[in-house]
Amino acid sequence: MKYLITGATGNIGSLVTTRLLHGGELPCVLARDGRKARKFYGDHVEIRVGDLAGPVDQLAMAFAGCEALFLINTGPNLAERDATCALAARTAGIQHLVKLSTLDAITGIGTGPWHARGEAAICGSGVPHTFIQTAAFMSNALSWADSIRTDGALFSSTGDGRIAFIHPGDIADVAVSVLTQKHTRNRSLVITGCQALSYREMVTAIGNAIGEPIRYETISDAEALAGALMWADRPYAEALVDIWRAVREGRLATVSTGVEQQLGRPPRSFADWIEENIGAFGGRARRS
Ligand SMILES: NC(=O)c1ccc[n+]([C@@H]2O[C@H](COP(=O)([O-])OP(=O)(O)OC[C@H]3O[C@@H](n4cnc5c(N)ncnc54)[C@H](OP(=O)(O)O)[C@@H]3O)[C@@H](O)[C@H]2O)c1
Repeated sequence: MKYLITGATGNIGSLVTTRLLHGGELPCVLARDGRKARKFYGDHVEIRVGDLAGPVDQLAMAFAGCEALFLINTGPNLAERDATCALAARTAGIQHLVKLSTLDAITGIGTGPWHARGEAAICGSGVPHTFIQTAAFMSNALSWADSIRTDGALFSSTGDGRIAFIHPGDIADVAVSVLTQKHTRNRSLVITGCQALSYREMVTAIGNAIGEPIRYETISDAEALAGALMWADRPYAEALVDIWRAVREGRLATVSTGVEQQLGRPPRSFADWIEENIGAFGGRARRS
């Protein structure tokens, strides 16, 4: 199987690419900037330069000769890019398109409608596919590090609602397992972490790990939006506030068995993730 990985300079795509490399595969990666991709992977991957926004014929050339495509599109216009990529995949004869999607494609919360439209376009293209509908990433908690270091506090509009963040390594393990699987097609796989926790519980666990108490302070949706707009564009900031509101209202506490079903082992815990990332919060990493 010849794999083409998109988003290989980002969070999940890079984990998928390195897992395939460690498994003895020689994946292709599609990147807008070939030099950036080369810095990540040296000569260990075949780099195809291209833009997921198209045009379709150029993307189809970039996909040529590959059989399985791992697709990551981001932002409010991701459905248009998913549609373009699906057409290019069909032209290039891709046999399995695996899209990194979100659990919220089902719930309609936050970025969910963007991904739901992308999924519909892929289904309509007729390209055999799998949608990995993931919960929010544990690595989102890295965005808490500044206020933990500066104020000794986390400010959040999620109240005491819970969410089962998933370890990025589990998402990548599932993606590789799905990509390398020969038979199952045209399905969605819902994956979450093993336990729904509140932001207060998660930040308390980080505080325990670094040996310093961290305050948890609830803020309003308006305050959360103002904070998000300091680093995100408005559509994404509004999607985040929608997600945080849903957490607060108990609408995102789903725990699925998807990781265990796909991998035959339980998902990694938030405690595992803290151990690996404690340095980001001012603690000393116990393992990488
Ligand atoms: N964070 C969460 O909690 C969460 C939860 C559920 C689902 N998701 C979904 O996960 C996805 C994000 O995954 P991630 O965090 O791994 O992504 P990421 O780290 O933001 O990386 C995005 C990647 O896409 C590439 N890219 C962006 N636009 C491109 C274009 N036009 N053509 C080619 N490549 C392009 C970037 O390459 P460059 O190096 O060129 O920028 C980068 O490699 C989104 O679809 C998001 O909705 C996230």
